[in-house]
Amino acid sequence: MKKFLITTPIYYPNGYPHIGHAYSSFIADFYARYKRLFGYDVKFSTGNDENSQKIVQQAESEGKDVMEYLNAMGKKREDVRQHLQISYTDFIRTTQENHKKLVQEMLQKSYNHWDIYEGEYKGYYCIGCEGFKTEKDLIPKDWEMVCPDHLKKPDLITEKNRFFKLSKYENQIKKFYTDHPEFLVPEYRYNEIKSFVNGGLIDFSVSRETNKFWIPLPFDPSQVTYVRYDALFNYVTASKDAWFRNEDTEIVHVLGKDIVKFHGIFWPAMLMSVQEKLPNKEFITGFFTVDGQKMSKSLGNVIDPVKVVDDYDRDAVIFNLLYDVPIGADGDFSVERLWHLYESMLIGWWGNLVNRVTSLCKKYGITSGKFNKQKWETFKEDNESKLLHYFEEWRDNAKIEEQYLRKAEIKSYLDDRYQLVQRANEYITRAEPRAKYKNDDTKNEAIADLQFLLYIVKNIALISAPILINGFKKIQDIFGNEEFGKIDSSKNGNEHQFKLVFDQEDFTVNLNPAIIYKKKEE
Ligand code: MSP
Repeated sequence: MKKFLITTPIYYPNGYPHIGHAYSSFIADFYARYKRLFGYDVKFSTGNDENSQKIVQQAESEGKDVMEYLNAMGKKREDVRQHLQISYTDFIRTTQENHKKLVQEMLQKSYNHWDIYEGEYKGYYCIGCEGFKTEKDLIPKDWEMVCPDHLKKPDLITEKNRFFKLSKYENQIKKFYTDHPEFLVPEYRYNEIKSFVNGGLIDFSVSRETNKFWIPLPFDPSQVTYVRYDALFNYVTASKDAWFRNEDTEIVHVLGKDIVKFHGIFWPAMLMSVQEKLPNKEFITGFFTVDGQKMSKSLGNVIDPVKVVDDYDRDAVIFNLLYDVPIGADGDFSVERLWHLYESMLIGWWGNLVNRVTSLCKKYGITSGKFNKQKWETFKEDNESKLLHYFEEWRDNAKIEEQYLRKAEIKSYLDDRYQLVQRANEYITRAEPRAKYKNDDTKNEAIADLQFLLYIVKNIALISAPILINGFKKIQDIFGNEEFGKIDSSKNGNEHQFKLVFDQEDFTVNLNPAIIYKKKEE
């Protein structure tokens, strides 16, 4: 079985996750579910980045013991992700023993390859970013030079550090980029990274002497790892066997544009140094603002993903995030927009279609869905949805991968799916099954149209199975078809079931019509 590993960044647990944090988890969740349905053995990792100075500061400011604080936050974060129905398989906390051990193993390996050396670091360090800064990185504010992201003056430090020989890997990295033209998506981010590398790479610090809380270097215990070095290796901790031992594992990272240098340049070099396999792909996401403004506690505009999922539906939130913003671009989140999409697209188009078709079928005692070649031709006519052309051969996963997934074109996947929904709505309006059913001459035609529409609804539902997961579950209940009811995108091993149901051109139903998305009271 082909293996697939998808990861989200691991999150700093110094506060509660907001909608921007949930974004990468939703994208990764879609991929994990999709790949499971198409027969991959999926591992999906996420977690908390705990070896960070700002966590220590946060715990201290709350008068808590650091480990106690981390345990409580770890539990809360895991609960949030479960609440959002993120189908991860591994939740990594970087204070866990096997992670520390692995990081030390990796450091030792790099050291043995002469890739880590001692030096003195003189410069700036921004705790907010947990990152070293050069003068060039700073911007002026109130007569001071500050970090552009945190608007705070970074600490000027002079200390003994260990450095990683990034410069040694410059040519290997360039070659890797040439050999893997689609490693980083979207392309414009890849171009930025390439031109950064063309500007010349300088070695970076992998350890500090300050915080005794972090992971000690095995060859120099007076030094501890720098948080971003250790954090990246969480991906290996998450999937040691699949990653290390299986050359065929497809590895995909999802991450935000603020950490693209770490993932796109440092990470491949670190892996080259320890002679490990490199990821196949990185999807770089943009940033979300809220009502046009950066999310911040002081502005009071931080969107809690749990609250919006509870207020609307998980399907509405993921749909809004992925339908409105192509992967890579920045986006804006607003409750008005969420409400509008929920009402118009989930309830109005999709919910209505399912309800119209299943209620009429129930009313007229129809107990089967049927494909019909002639009706299919009418349905297809003038339809621009690319998905439609793959509809007939949906099992040909390669085409869908090629068209949408390889370049993370989830927005167009959803657009094309919506064209099918719209088409089906038009079809039912034109077919006028109610009127035809009343007339003995056309009654059979009405029945055949509705049976055909049941087939169409079934397959559009299957296309949405990895994304509109709550709606999908409701449709499974509505259909009352045993095979259909067994499909579950949160678990590996469903592909036979999925194919079987997709291919069913004549199937029985035991309809139990219900509303899939409820109107929200204003
Ligand atoms: N701990 C590091 C990642 C290490 S991965 C080896 C980190 N954590 S974070 O909690 O600050 O951010 C986690 C992810 O959330 C990052 O990918 C970041 O880009 C993303 N986002 C943070 N704010 C965001 C928005 N406002 N919008 C979209 N994504 C945002 O960085």
